[in-house]
Amino acid sequence: MRSQFFFLLFLSLIVVSAIVDVDGDDDDDEERSFSLFLGKGRGGLERNFYRISCPKAESLIRDITWSNVRNDANLGARLLRIHFHDCFVKGCDASILLDRTGDEKSEKEARSNLSLKGFEVIDEIKTEVEKECPGVVSCADIVALAARDTVSYPFGRSMWDVFTGRRDGRISLESLATVHLPSSFDNFTSLQQLFASKGLDINDLVALSGAHTIGVSHCASFSKRLFNFSGKGDMDPSMDPIYGEQLKKICPIPTNGATTLEMDPQSSLTLDSDYFNLLTKNKGLFISDAALLTDRRSARIVRQLQSPRPFFRAFAISMINMGAIEVLTGTNGEIRKNCHVVNP
Ligand code: HEM
Ligand SMILES: *[C@@H]1O[C@H](CO)[C@@H](O)[C@H](O)[C@H]1NC(C)=O
Ligand SMILES: *[C@@H]1O[C@H](CO)[C@@H](O)[C@H](O)[C@H]1NC(C)=O
Ligand SMILES: *[C@@H]1O[C@H](CO)[C@@H](O)[C@H](O)[C@H]1NC(C)=O
Repeated sequence: MRSQFFFLLFLSLIVVSAIVDVDGDDDDDEERSFSLFLGKGRGGLERNFYRISCPKAESLIRDITWSNVRNDANLGARLLRIHFHDCFVKGCDASILLDRTGDEKSEKEARSNLSLKGFEVIDEIKTEVEKECPGVVSCADIVALAARDTVSYPFGRSMWDVFTGRRDGRISLESLATVHLPSSFDNFTSLQQLFASKGLDINDLVALSGAHTIGVSHCASFSKRLFNFSGKGDMDPSMDPIYGEQLKKICPIPTNGATTLEMDPQSSLTLDSDYFNLLTKNKGLFISDAALLTDRRSARIVRQLQSPRPFFRAFAISMINMGAIEVLTGTNGEIRKNCHVVNP
């Protein structure tokens, strides 16, 4: 009787705190954080899927990731981007890791892979995890967990939940990557449509674009904005002109394919809300970044995410959403033995 009372009290506390925790101002937002609080992943994924089949998997993945990121702080951005490219093309199924088998190029050979790096860390993790529990942990889950853990390293704690139980796909085609990945030259409408086709809404589009607070870009991804925006040798008028002149110095024509620059120059190694502050100052690097200001609803979200707390919260929710895109679970797909090739 007593324990029932305390259980009910506990339940109502959960409900109350979930409601109080909401500081967003629209209903949609409330629903999103509520389902997060109850710990329901989407797409049939669950919390700590390997707790019985491979109890050490998650800590092993975190330890290997952290020892790598300790030596190379750029890994956070690299592994996060691999996870994004994986999820947007045929779902989060580790198709991005497959090598080509015949004449046809695989996903990672697509032009939009431009500079994807960090694959060797996934290989190292997979090798160790296979030693611990052969044939149990999917490459897709490793990608999702390693992305979270590298980005979380500077904070010393997990910055978002990763629900697990993904299985690996058997198809990887360059042609799919070309269609399903957004381009840095996309306008708002195209971005919104592409994200919607993955089950992601404007909140997700804006929050996830905040990933550009870490990492680097090559000049080719934005140089058109600087030198020949409308074909008249002009600069994109939506870009801060002083910032534009600085970029021209770093990325003169002819473009040097090896030059990279930090997208958030002040703190390109840590996840923070700076991306949104830069955006509102017209210092977003890509057309696709600046595009988030061209729609009234998304511009409003950009302003909301300018401070750390709302940003971290929104980013965590949207990473869970992204990590659930078209996942294979149950008896679909397979647990690849080697992340580079499908099982025989
Ligand atoms: C909204 C549409 C998006 C577009 C058009 C886009 C485009 C790009 C481009 C062009 C680059 C630079 C590539 C280069 O020149 O080397 C880049 C870098 C990056 N993107 Fe995105 N991206 C988008 C969304 C995302 C999302 C959703 C994430 C993750 C959640 C993400 C994470 C990253 C990271 C971390 C980097 C830096 C990679 C590194 O330093 O190695 N991006 N993105
Ligand atoms: C990405 O594509 C380029 C060009 O097709 C290729 O040279 C490079 O090896 C690819 N990257 C990876 C990681 O496969
Ligand atoms: C956005 O881009 C698409 C594809 O390039 C184009 O068809 C559309 O007209 C553009 N929309 C706006 C509002 O510029
Ligand atoms: C600028 O773009 C126009 C139209 O696409 C093209 O004719 C011209 O050659 C370009 N100029 C430079 C310097 O690339």
